Amino acid sequence: MTDTKEMRFEFGKNWHRFVKRNLTQERCDIAKTHILDFIGQKSLDGRDFLDIGCGSGLHSLGAWQAGAGRLHSFDYDETSVLATRYVRNKAGNPANWVVERGDVLDEAYVGRLGRWNLVYSWGVLHHTGDVWRAIVNAQKTVGDGGLFYLALYASDVQPQMDYWLAIKREYNQAGPLKRRRMVWDYIWNHMIHHDLSRLPEVANRMMKHKLTRGMSMLAAIRDWLGGWPMQFTADQDVVDLLEQQHGFKLVNVATGQACSEYLFERTGTPAERTIVTELVGSKKAMAEMPIGKTADAPKRSRLELLEDGVPLGPFRSAASDMASEAGSVSSTGPTRSVSCERRLRLSQQRP
Ligand SMILES: C[S@@+](CC[C@H](N)C(=O)[O-])C[C@H]1O[C@@H](n2cnc3c(N)ncnc32)[C@H](O)[C@@H]1O
Repeated sequence: MTDTKEMRFEFGKNWHRFVKRNLTQERCDIAKTHILDFIGQKSLDGRDFLDIGCGSGLHSLGAWQAGAGRLHSFDYDETSVLATRYVRNKAGNPANWVVERGDVLDEAYVGRLGRWNLVYSWGVLHHTGDVWRAIVNAQKTVGDGGLFYLALYASDVQPQMDYWLAIKREYNQAGPLKRRRMVWDYIWNHMIHHDLSRLPEVANRMMKHKLTRGMSMLAAIRDWLGGWPMQFTADQDVVDLLEQQHGFKLVNVATGQACSEYLFERTGTPAERTIVTELVGSKKAMAEMPIGKTADAPKRSRLELLEDGVPLGPFRSAASDMASEAGSVSSTGPTRSVSCERRLRLSQQRP
């Protein structure tokens, strides 16, 4: 399962193309809302935000628009850094936002980053070539009482891991034409399922894909097929590592799609072991309850939306109704916590 360091997907090329063609205020609002919903906040309200493996930079921008105080975005891939700088530039190059090249496996570099109260690493650490070392390094940047928002490819993927690892190897060794064909093969095999009557539904899903995290479906498919190095992790193993050895408590989780999302809080003391499947079950039940209005009412988890959301293909739950995801994204309100100044600069541009 652990694979080569010598082969590496050009993530940045894909992200740079994505932001140059697709960066809009709407996508940014969706990215921002995705972060805020998962951490259960209406704004970042001056919270420091470290984005490990920032890729396109869209989610750093979302964090900036959500009111982050100090931002630091880094990525191993020079072109991902360029993409994020492009995005930062569209936001008017705010002085509180640093973008640079960095490697989460480089302990000296990670040590220099200091401690942050919100560390975000979405879909990154499994692409470093050493996912466990990357998790251990990344958690060092979370300050006392800070949050660690992590997304990792889960090992109970269907079809199974070896199937995808073989496809990914083939994609990385292919030239541009074959890669393009593999994207269409993917759509035909794993989205249309060889049934042309599904075409309208798939086209609709592709159009609405941005509603999940603000990304485009084609960029996400290329990222999925290409993403290398690649390791899968079991949800419980991730939770056990951070809870039992590094003083974190799991406070939110979303499973059921290719990436499991976890939100940990650094409590500093060994936590009682969280059994992920039990937490998922209880969150599901909670999601069916009406949302209370008091401050201590249980937060509605996005879990049910992620399970019913439109998966990209390598997912663990059945494809289903995008309309509910669309409704939920817009109903959480893209405008809620954004200062006018932070919105306007971007809305004036169109790539
Ligand atoms: C799938 S992309 C995810 C990008 C972004 N976080 C998002 O949510 O869209 C993975 C990113 O991780 C970066 N990456 C891979 N290995 C890394 C490392 N060792 N240190 C920092 N970033 C790394 C890649 O260059 C790529 O931009």
